[in-house]
Amino acid sequence: MSDPQLVLAARVQAALAAAIGQEYANEDPLIRPSQFADFQANVAMALAKRLGRKPRDVATEIVAHLDVADVCADVEISGPGFLNLTLREDWIAAQTQAVHNDERLGLTVTEHPQTLVVDYSAPNIAKEMLAHHIRTTIVGDAFTRSAEFLGHKVIRQNHVGDWGTQFGMLIEHLLDVGDDSPEAEQLATEPNLFYQAARAKFDSDDTFAERSRQRVVRLQGGDAETLKLWRELVELSKSYLGRVYQRLDVTLTDDDLAGESMYNDMLADVCDELERKGIATMSEGALCVFLDGFTGREGKPVPLIIRKSDGGYGYATTDLAAIRYRALTLHADRIVYVIGAPQALHLRMVFETARKAGWLEGGTEAFHAAIGSVLGPDGKLMRTRSGEPIKLMTLIEEGVERAEKVIEDRGYDDQTRKEIAAAVGIGAVKYADLSTARDSDYIFDLDRMLALQGNTGPYLQYAVARIRSIFRRAELNVTDATGPIVVGDPAERALALQLLGFGGAIDALLADVAPHRLCAYIYALADAYTTFYENCPVLRAPDDATRASRLALCAVTMRTLVTGLALLGVPTPERM
Ligand code: ARG
Repeated sequence: MSDPQLVLAARVQAALAAAIGQEYANEDPLIRPSQFADFQANVAMALAKRLGRKPRDVATEIVAHLDVADVCADVEISGPGFLNLTLREDWIAAQTQAVHNDERLGLTVTEHPQTLVVDYSAPNIAKEMLAHHIRTTIVGDAFTRSAEFLGHKVIRQNHVGDWGTQFGMLIEHLLDVGDDSPEAEQLATEPNLFYQAARAKFDSDDTFAERSRQRVVRLQGGDAETLKLWRELVELSKSYLGRVYQRLDVTLTDDDLAGESMYNDMLADVCDELERKGIATMSEGALCVFLDGFTGREGKPVPLIIRKSDGGYGYATTDLAAIRYRALTLHADRIVYVIGAPQALHLRMVFETARKAGWLEGGTEAFHAAIGSVLGPDGKLMRTRSGEPIKLMTLIEEGVERAEKVIEDRGYDDQTRKEIAAAVGIGAVKYADLSTARDSDYIFDLDRMLALQGNTGPYLQYAVARIRSIFRRAELNVTDATGPIVVGDPAERALALQLLGFGGAIDALLADVAPHRLCAYIYALADAYTTFYENCPVLRAPDDATRASRLALCAVTMRTLVTGLALLGVPTPERM
């Protein structure tokens, strides 16, 4: 445990227990970075109120029992009762050295591995992925990568929309064009073309529409030949998804597909169970779940309809089957839904129903990681000029094209330029997404995303490339920069302290599914590095010991940046 914030919290806690009494052993002191010292602890004030004592007296008593001589050079009581804690330089240096010596940069594998089921990406089969799918895909992927890195068991569930009435017309269209026709090929390359062609026929050709409707009936009835055609359709679409995920370097594979159709066989049973338990009741011919506190206008209860009056099941029933399966069959400790914010009410009702049914009683937590929208320059949902929703791949390839312009004049051969442009363009779009709080909206603006200054992907990739070039000039392998690290200059101290906060940033990401917390950390680290680099000559350091220490600081900074960006799924090209 090298995160100074955690170390100090534990020490203050112990002092608190010793000074005021064991019953306060679990009191969590608020330790935060301070402009007056390295950190400031705030516990005396809240406590004093409860004890009816003067905050300064409580603070004095805590300090008298505070055993931090090995960690802190100075402890001061300031203001009404804050503790200002200044760390020892040799402690900072030793901790940073320990991080540097550790292959995992001090990020120990968790002692309490959880089973995390993560529902993310979830586009619709036989349709193009749209702008908003980038967010549910990228945020979910940063979360699963980070959780796995810390040793949790992650089960990815790509809840693709692979079932519904539109499959009748899609199957009929596939039959018409033939499964090895160029039209069928479109499913794997440009699924929208296939979908639109089917739709156009459905709207203009009555016999086709009738055939499609009969096909839906056979599909739902489990007709073997129809299911075979449906599977073919899904199969072709899979290769489209695979291609997008590969281009985006997203960890989802075919094995993670757990589409809506997977739950078909469970739907009737879910309805029965909820009815049997008295949670679902018949209302106007439909089977509904009414939940306390879910009311619409004029206080009218809003039902969750789980079986329509025609006997059909819907989106909600599928999600109920999914949550039951994830909790009871996959044994999830936590189910994370990386899904658009507009679905918040739907999910709250699903979660509440699951809770009432007892499915979460094994201690399963259901968490909606709500995702905001991607907006166009006008601040409205992104659309093309003709009013169509924008395809995800259009955005991505535009980013790559623009990145290629940025590096046009650097003298790279074609192949290298293409590789760097892909890393920079895709990295820029992904990073821009991840660095925004996941539930706020953002405007898709490639100029901002590709800027070489500020909290952007290219700025951070550039920071990494710059450190790499130092090692090239020093003719030294990064792994050979072993230190020892000493911390003297204020810029060295600030950089080292920043390096020690990596674990805390990942914990923050995991707790709230908040990749922007890790982004903010990485950006602050790159900033601390820039200040260090401007103030502390590395290759021209005054003596060999300082040079060795600074090279080690460069090396551990680089590894932290690369690892942090990799956990976000953002590549770091060798050169830029
Ligand atoms: N397929 C849906 C869409 O594209 C999202 C599904 C989200 N996951 C879920 N379990 N409801 O909007």
